Amino acid sequence: MVDICVMKNINQIQLGHHGPFVSSLGLGCMRMSSVWGGPTPDESESIATINQALDLGINFLNTGDFYGAGHNEMLIGKAIKGRRDDAFISVKFGAIFHNGQWLGLDLRPDAIKNFVNYSLTRLGIETIDLYQPSRMDNSVPVEDIIGTVADLVKEGKVRHIGVSEITADQLRKASEIHPISALEIGYSLAERQIENELLPAARDLGVAVIAFANTAEGLLSGELSAPLSDNDYRQHFSRFQNQNLVYNLQKVEILKDLAISKGFTPTQLAIAWVKEQGEFIMPLVSMSKRSRLAENIEAMKIEFSEEEMNTLNTTFAIGAIKGGTYLAR
Ligand SMILES: NC(=O)c1ccc[n+]([C@@H]2O[C@H](COP(=O)([O-])OP(=O)(O)OC[C@H]3O[C@@H](n4cnc5c(N)ncnc54)[C@H](OP(=O)(O)O)[C@@H]3O)[C@@H](O)[C@H]2O)c1
Repeated sequence: MVDICVMKNINQIQLGHHGPFVSSLGLGCMRMSSVWGGPTPDESESIATINQALDLGINFLNTGDFYGAGHNEMLIGKAIKGRRDDAFISVKFGAIFHNGQWLGLDLRPDAIKNFVNYSLTRLGIETIDLYQPSRMDNSVPVEDIIGTVADLVKEGKVRHIGVSEITADQLRKASEIHPISALEIGYSLAERQIENELLPAARDLGVAVIAFANTAEGLLSGELSAPLSDNDYRQHFSRFQNQNLVYNLQKVEILKDLAISKGFTPTQLAIAWVKEQGEFIMPLVSMSKRSRLAENIEAMKIEFSEEEMNTLNTTFAIGAIKGGTYLAR
């Protein structure tokens, strides 16, 4: 049982130089729907988790219109009914995803104008707080995509504009068209390539970084052993296959040892490491059960000594983890 009075002290982070303040820990709702296949998790627990997160001051909720083909937005809609003002809702659009399969992108201006109306209806709200293309591709110029979302801001359907999984050049281009409040991007001890270009660009442009996959698909949880079961979706990613997994889990042992010595779990340390990379970075963590909330709020308070940080940064230097996931960079 979480003591709400004790726990409600989440710090805030500003989205962009002039943007809104939101909780410094975000609630990723993706895994409350069947995205990679498999059954839909317990809806009543998901709704209770969203409500308890809001009670605890975690107001940043993240979804995508393609998470469970609209299921995720409807779930959030049910959870926030009667308490719209407690939540800050971030929605991605443009990805075509079905039965656990990525089928491509649709970023045409007319499609975006259509998507937003469906999202507003499913969420049961009048304005989306942060609206963002889930990816860019070469089929539609960045100017047209961001320009279309800027029109939605003028129409009052969207408050702030974000982007997701883009390059530093695309981020600069997007920022020339309209202020970009936030960049959603995969970032963890196992996925540090963005430190070369994208992270410095976001910092320079005053764009907040919403960092997801802090546990690197569970690799950093310390709970995996090789080989994964045949029906585990991660088998598709080279990071989790054969000798790569054996090698990568040896690195995770060092994280596990540090976690034990500090009295936390490896997942908590993985989240805390992301938070420590800059005050403009928000860990966005999937939590489908209420039991996760207290643990991850606690993670936001972890500090590292210089020696501990050196150990992590050396063990998990860029390129130290073998193989990739769907986050091909
Ligand atoms: N922009 C993009 O391209 C993109 C891509 C992927 C995800 N996202 C967003 O980012 C969010 C997070 O991404 P993610 O799900 O890939 O990564 P994640 O946050 O690392 O979550 C992976 C798993 O960690 C588990 N977990 C959470 N807290 C834990 C704890 N304290 N101890 C042990 N396990 C814990 C979660 O379990 P439970 O679910 O069982 O609680 C989840 O299954 C998503 O919900 C989504 O909103 C964005």
